[in-house]
Amino acid sequence: MRNYQQFVWPQILCLMLLSFEYEVETKSTIEACNSSDSCPSLLSYFLPWDSKVSEIATRFHVNASDILASNSLFPITSSSAHQILRAKTFVKIPIFCSCVDGIRRSMSTIYTVRAADTAASISEGYGGLVSGEQIKILNSINGSNPLRNGGTLVIPLPCTCFNNVNNGGTAVYMSYVVQIRESLSSIAAKFGTTISDLKAVNGFSEPTVDPGDIISLPIAACSSATLKWYDESMIVPNGSYTLTASNCIKCSCQPMDITMRCVPSGLAVPCYNLRCKQSNLIIGSECVEHSETACNLIQCVYRGHRGGKILSSMKNSSYLQCPDNVCHRRASCWSFSSSEDPFGMSPKTSSSLPLPVSKASQKTSAFNGRLARFLINLLQIFLFLKFILYFLI
Ligand SMILES: *[C@@H]1O[C@H](CO)[C@@H](O)[C@H](O)[C@H]1NC(C)=O
Ligand SMILES: *[C@@H]1O[C@H](CO)[C@@H](O)[C@H](O)[C@H]1NC(C)=O
Ligand SMILES: *[C@@H]1O[C@H](CO)[C@@H](O)[C@H](O)[C@H]1NC(C)=O
Ligand SMILES: *[C@@H]1O[C@H](CO)[C@@H](O)[C@H](O)[C@H]1NC(C)=O
Ligand SMILES: *[C@@H]1O[C@H](CO)[C@@H](O)[C@H](O)[C@H]1NC(C)=O
Repeated sequence: MRNYQQFVWPQILCLMLLSFEYEVETKSTIEACNSSDSCPSLLSYFLPWDSKVSEIATRFHVNASDILASNSLFPITSSSAHQILRAKTFVKIPIFCSCVDGIRRSMSTIYTVRAADTAASISEGYGGLVSGEQIKILNSINGSNPLRNGGTLVIPLPCTCFNNVNNGGTAVYMSYVVQIRESLSSIAAKFGTTISDLKAVNGFSEPTVDPGDIISLPIAACSSATLKWYDESMIVPNGSYTLTASNCIKCSCQPMDITMRCVPSGLAVPCYNLRCKQSNLIIGSECVEHSETACNLIQCVYRGHRGGKILSSMKNSSYLQCPDNVCHRRASCWSFSSSEDPFGMSPKTSSSLPLPVSKASQKTSAFNGRLARFLINLLQIFLFLKFILYFLI
């Protein structure tokens, strides 16, 4: 009898742990708000299974090219949305963070329910950015109003703006789901911030986090605020780029000084007016003109877009003493002939990139997930029956 008891109690404990796993409460940083503005924001997404970029885009209602740009992943071509990323890959999802019922969050993601879905499996599909409970509450899912195959759900996704400022500099905040074996210090090191900064941003009194917690992570960013753009403003997190002007222009931060630089995207879209007026310079390029007294750095800079037209202007910076990095390495002005276009201004036919992973693996992994859940349920029923039997005998 004792032997049997020794055998069955660990199993019951294990069963309790298995059920408990779905009920763990997680912390999430919430920003109260009262205005109607929204801000650029990022979500951390650890892929729950192998997914095409286009599938991730559909899941979050974001354009595939914007996901590629946010992660500086591969060159964007017509085929790059079909690239498959492996399960557990870390991807940044660019979203707009708005203010809903006094809380910063994004409600623009709509999910269409499929046959085998549960609130927990949908939560898993979103990498734990939203809990099954939150999905149920927001969509009034209960016993009498269950999930319906083909029905749609609003997925509330956590985000923060904090005025896009951190420590006096521009920042974009990423909602980050803490992974197993991560600590605040490992996260700080990974994303170039500090524990004290993370504590301050999230209002933590203790520097401890648990897997599944959602913290707000400031990422240094560059802004167009000082660049005198017409009708446009933009904030880009360091390490990402953003497409604008009908995907003709891409802007990113220069890692040295976190200032914004915009260049032609090189995408296969028709783009006009990429050249500064009365010059041979294309947006984002520069040249050097030496005079007797100075060295002039002349740049063709992006200035926004209006009515389908890309605006640009020349910027002339004079240096009395030529700084090494500016004046000696750059081409001198008027050296480009119109035939040698350094940025590929004319629409290009895109080349296909080889697929790194086979397509079949995604279905298999979704199937494996379902199989695993089924087996766990079966195990639970089996253990439960054994438990009952134990008392009957
Ligand atoms: C709006 O919210 C900000 C901070 O969230 C607060 O400082 C301000 O007083 C609020 N304004 C009103 C009218 O509630
Ligand atoms: C993203 O896609 C939507 C719909 O497909 C389109 O209207 C929008 O212009 C796209 N945004 C960008 C930046 O390409
Ligand atoms: C379920 O939610 C509906 C609203 O969608 C509500 O009318 C109903 O009373 C709820 N039922 C239970 C059992 O909570
Ligand atoms: C910006 O990103 C680069 C790498 O992409 C990194 O080396 C640099 O330290 C980052 N700068 C800041 C201020 O975070
Ligand atoms: C740039 O500015 C310097 C002096 O400020 C001037 O001499 C030079 O002609 C300017 N160059 C252009 C192309 O405007």
